[in-house]
Amino acid sequence: MDMLNENSNISEFILLGLSSSQETQIYFFVIFFLVYVAIIVGNLLIVISVIFDHRLHSPMYFLLANLSFFDLCLSSVATPKVIADFLIKCKSISLWGCMAQMFLMHFFGGGEMSLLIAMAIDRYVAICKPLHYKTIMNHRMLILFLLLSWTIGFIHTTSQMVFIVGLPFCGPNVVDSIFCDLSLVIKLACTETYILELLVIADSGLLSLVCFILLLISYIIMLVTICQHSSSVPSKAVSTLSTHITVVTLFFGPAIFIYAFPFKSYSVDKFLSVFYSVITPFLNPIIYTLRNQEMKAAIKRLSSQHIGYCLAP
Ligand SMILES: *[C@@H]1O[C@H](CO)[C@@H](O)[C@H](O)[C@H]1NC(C)=O
Repeated sequence: MDMLNENSNISEFILLGLSSSQETQIYFFVIFFLVYVAIIVGNLLIVISVIFDHRLHSPMYFLLANLSFFDLCLSSVATPKVIADFLIKCKSISLWGCMAQMFLMHFFGGGEMSLLIAMAIDRYVAICKPLHYKTIMNHRMLILFLLLSWTIGFIHTTSQMVFIVGLPFCGPNVVDSIFCDLSLVIKLACTETYILELLVIADSGLLSLVCFILLLISYIIMLVTICQHSSSVPSKAVSTLSTHITVVTLFFGPAIFIYAFPFKSYSVDKFLSVFYSVITPFLNPIIYTLRNQEMKAAIKRLSSQHIGYCLAP
């Protein structure tokens, strides 16, 4: 009937989770639950502030709101099931559930990666071509960036998944992680996967490595430009840039470690996958709001407005 059931005689994968101790699992449940709630609240707050506050209607904040939207999606792919799994002894996931997790993870991950590049281009134009900023970063350019992000995410994930979806799985079916991680699932296929592993290294590992290096170089150029063009310390631009550099490093670091040096079954891999699926979406709103006065002011205005509505008869 369908491709998967034809050549696979297993119908589900077993996930080992983070710990086998019952007590530790309860702690993880509480921690992950609280972090997930914080991810939803923090990122929603950014999206709502940018949409409803006219003072934040600039390309930088539109891109930031879209990044928060990607964070919401990325963390919602696996985290709810991960949280529920902490309460279950034998954690299993169906073959299709596993495929869907890998597809969506790389879809939103690839999209977020592209969006981080768009954000770097936006800052580059603002700093190195300030006089042309309004004409270059117009509404059409923004829409183009967003369309490109979604498209690149889709192409990135599809180019890997078309091959993985057809792999035969005939056991063992144990994934030593909290969700279906592409680099771990490939190793369970009962066929030669060498070429496919190379494809994944090129598609996920090399891509993130190259993007990361390009991003770092562009941020360094921007920092140098800022320092050359002003005698006093332009603290606002520098603080915005350092924020971006932090986020970029947090997002790309674990991804590069997993996919550029993959398939060696490091046990740190599963903790790294926690990093880019949970920790980064959690830290992004904190980093962006704490270090950004305008964002903080907007959230304050939003909350006082809201309290105003509530108090009005
Ligand atoms: C993404 O950016 C566009 C601006 O081009 C904006 O209209 C839209 O509201 C943003 N999306 C989110 C979820 O903030």
